[in-house]
Amino acid sequence: RFRCLKNKNIVLIGFMGSGKTTISDYLSKAMGRKKIDTDILIKKREKCSIIEIFENYGEEYFRNLESEVVSEISDMKNCIISCGGGTVLRHENVENLKKNGIIVLLSAKPKTVLIRVKNSDSRPILNGNMNEHFIKELMDKRSFSYMSVADIVVDTDNKSIISISDEIIDKA
Ligand code: S3P
Repeated sequence: RFRCLKNKNIVLIGFMGSGKTTISDYLSKAMGRKKIDTDILIKKREKCSIIEIFENYGEEYFRNLESEVVSEISDMKNCIISCGGGTVLRHENVENLKKNGIIVLLSAKPKTVLIRVKNSDSRPILNGNMNEHFIKELMDKRSFSYMSVADIVVDTDNKSIISISDEIIDKA
């Protein structure tokens, strides 16, 4: 069933709260593949949280770290890669991720995203802006970039983890 994926990475992209981390956990177990999470790599490297990186050094510094990490993992094969919500907003990251990867965009409505991230204190971009309006505006700004780099789009509203994952494998 996974034949057409050969050695390709499955690269999960999409807005915060679209389910990238949850789905990557499931897919990595179900397919027996190694899981890579760009935010986790950044945290390990800096030995602090994403919030602290944003607060102490700013977004640009974070984005540069993100690009470094993406470039380092771009030669990996057979992995499930979970990106940060802003990773594919830089073209160099897209090129690196596409080298060995199929880009899967997970989509969700602003309302769904809000429910999923409401109690999160680890999203600096949403700090003080935890509302549907802000989420919708930012999603609208980003959606063209997301759509234009995606090989596959999977909607995640009102779906189970298993059915989302199955859909990814079927479409890939
Ligand atoms: C970001 C999303 C976050 C994290 C950082 C910036 C964004 O990842 O990389 O806070 O710009 O959308 P998640 O999408 O996993 O929350």
